[in-house]
Amino acid sequence: MAFTYSEKVMDHFANPRNVGEIENADGIGEVGNSKCGDIMKMYLKVDDNTITDVKFKTFGCGAAIATSSMATELIKGKTIDEALQLTNKAVMEALDGLPPVKVHCSVLAEEAIKSAVSDYYTRQGIDPEPIVGKIESDHDHE
Ligand code: FES
Repeated sequence: MAFTYSEKVMDHFANPRNVGEIENADGIGEVGNSKCGDIMKMYLKVDDNTITDVKFKTFGCGAAIATSSMATELIKGKTIDEALQLTNKAVMEALDGLPPVKVHCSVLAEEAIKSAVSDYYTRQGIDPEPIVGKIESDHDHE
């Protein structure tokens, strides 16, 4: 099936922002997409409850790269609470949409952020589940 990507998706795919890793990250999240087996890793630097830096690496498709790139841009400089509010829908809207068959790819970014925040809280000795919710990276997102 042929489908087209928005200019913003193409831009973030061709020039992804915040790719890489952070040494001494305060939180690291890794999630997998059950639909395609792609994997994403997200690194957070947190200072006084604010995400001062974020980087990601993915073994994922173009849509996963574009959504992660946009997601990292959207949470950089935000508080952890604000980052947790970010939905894959909001990321897709910021990218002017994704073809329906690629919607599942955008879930990877949202879950990677939650997983990294969860790791951050665990390192602080705080139980993340009441705050972040259960991280489920291996079920189907429809
Ligand atoms: Fe796997 Fe897009 S096809 S994340």
